[in-house]
Amino acid sequence: MIQLPLSKLSNVGTTIFSQMTQLANENEAINLSQGFPDFMPDSELLDLVNHFIKKGFNQYAPMGGMISLKEEIARKIENSHAAIYHPDSEITVTAGGTQAIFTAIATFVKKDDEVIIFEPAYDCYEPTVELFGGIVKRFEMKAPDYEIDWNAMKNLISENTKMIILNNPNNPSGKVLKENDLQELIKIVEGTSILILSDEVYENIVFDGKQHLSICKYPELKNRSLLIASFGKLFHVTGWKIGYCAAPKILTDEFRKIHQFNVFSVNTPIQLALAEYMKDENHYNSLNVFFQEKRDFLKQGLVTTSFELLDCEGTYFQSLRYDKISDKNDFEFARELTVNHKVASVPFSSFYKNKLNEHVIRLCFAKKQETLEKAIENLSKL
Ligand SMILES: Cc1ncc(COP(=O)(O)O)c(C=O)c1O
Repeated sequence: MIQLPLSKLSNVGTTIFSQMTQLANENEAINLSQGFPDFMPDSELLDLVNHFIKKGFNQYAPMGGMISLKEEIARKIENSHAAIYHPDSEITVTAGGTQAIFTAIATFVKKDDEVIIFEPAYDCYEPTVELFGGIVKRFEMKAPDYEIDWNAMKNLISENTKMIILNNPNNPSGKVLKENDLQELIKIVEGTSILILSDEVYENIVFDGKQHLSICKYPELKNRSLLIASFGKLFHVTGWKIGYCAAPKILTDEFRKIHQFNVFSVNTPIQLALAEYMKDENHYNSLNVFFQEKRDFLKQGLVTTSFELLDCEGTYFQSLRYDKISDKNDFEFARELTVNHKVASVPFSSFYKNKLNEHVIRLCFAKKQETLEKAIENLSKL
């Protein structure tokens, strides 16, 4: 019998999303836990993929991505944020946001480097930093508004700080950074070599006329940032696992040294289809309205319940505080909700290292009308 080597991630189990999805399936519950749409993507996009497959574009793409797609990405960023990235040398197409995040951390974080993350945090940041010997420093944002106290955050900075990871709009809280947040960040990193990994996979899902303030809008931040996005979120195709990293050439050159051995290149026909599809800006500019209607439908449906609906400024997640309904911890509450009321959610404590329990759960509203209707009906019985 061989002796297993020590686990490199001894504290890591299966993600909460897989756990809740499994519980939902076992209990035939409506799955509002994992962040994926339960409706079909646009058939025009599906036809385009089919077209390029049949045309014979089925072999390796260039390592950094198909130029037609990179050009469309550069155009989108320029139109949205007046920021320029050179398509060929500053944009890399990746196998989803997750691979871009992994590669960015693998590229720059070395042993004992400190990386600041904001909690509640998406689950892949911390283990990836640890895998490369980095040390995670956490700043906890708390219910109900998840504001960042930048004076307190500043205390986490040290001479070993290598990277700050931002997630804007934030999953799970739905919080969107404001001008003041970005200005505070500019002051904090000024004169340092700190890099910023800006996870903006929900960039086009911002509500109530608010603007998404991308890191790339600010030259002082853009020049030290890796901007990460996901077509899975943009075009309702999370299963295609395709996204990108936009970063100044000096950072992109390093990023690609790892990218080429991590994945080398990404699905050719899908890249070509996305490039064609992106030519019509309405395909992504209409996303805010599309998801705002879903958010409002869910909120309206739950308004008479005892849940407290926290502000959802962006993303496709609505947070509910349930302390008027139960004093159970959020994990237990989410479990009971799935088993007894047939609605699966994600407990917020799973987004905090120290399992901060503020009696909040997350619901994904990227779902068909009828799915949301059923969920509202079940939740209204509580
Ligand atoms: C905040 C955040 N970042 C990154 C990702 C990963 O994106 P992808 O599915 O393209 O890998 C997700 C997916 O849910 C996410 O919510």
